[in-house]
Amino acid sequence: MTKIGNSKPVSSNQQGVHEHLDVLVTKHLNTIDRTPIPDFVKDSFELIAKTLRQTGLPLWLDSFCGTGISTRRLAEQHPDFCVVGVDQSQQRLGAEPPPELNNCLLVRSDCEALWRLMATHKVCAKQHTLFYPNPWPKASQVKRRVHGHASFQALLDISPNLELRTNWETYAREFAQALTLARRPIELTSFTPQEPITRFEAKYAASQHTLWKVRSTTSS
Ligand SMILES: C[S@@+](CC[C@H](N)C(=O)[O-])C[C@H]1O[C@@H](n2cnc3c(N)ncnc32)[C@H](O)[C@@H]1O
Repeated sequence: MTKIGNSKPVSSNQQGVHEHLDVLVTKHLNTIDRTPIPDFVKDSFELIAKTLRQTGLPLWLDSFCGTGISTRRLAEQHPDFCVVGVDQSQQRLGAEPPPELNNCLLVRSDCEALWRLMATHKVCAKQHTLFYPNPWPKASQVKRRVHGHASFQALLDISPNLELRTNWETYAREFAQALTLARRPIELTSFTPQEPITRFEAKYAASQHTLWKVRSTTSS
């Protein structure tokens, strides 16, 4: 039996945007997160920096890339970028044969800590995609969502152009609201993928979920 079209919509005990979102985001926009960076994240940062030096190409960061299907596709479609996919799961990263493209790298890291290290060293991603990060749907988990996390300012600092996709409308609306609080332009739309760019996107589309996209563009 195939599971591709059987995915349940996100269910949550939270109705609409989290009641404390504005307070939480404002706090994180005004404080520096000093949590120590783990060694494996420092190593991943060095590998990315070395690859950027070797290719001489601008960075396209593909955070929460899973098996890296989107990373490979973006690298094929944009040979003028060095596309780096980041995921914490070595198992997912190793699920497909390694990419053979010179402009494509898959790295195990922790996205939030990596963004902070990048921000500290002023390494920016000209393009940054975040496709279907874990929704953390319980109201008590809001601080684990990318916009509720202490690294939110670092995410903004390294991402002049970013796009987040999700199958949970509340997540998209919260992310858009957090960007607005940070005075970033936003474009929030629902969409139907012509050709799904990730494994989860294929699963959600086949399960008839409404998919959401939030874009924020501050430079070309
Ligand atoms: C729902 S999956 C989406 C994967 C892929 N983007 C897709 O659409 O098929 C979320 C991914 O985020 C990864 N992840 C969760 N938290 C992470 C973190 N803090 N840093 C890096 N990866 C993380 C998980 O291992 C998982 O592969």
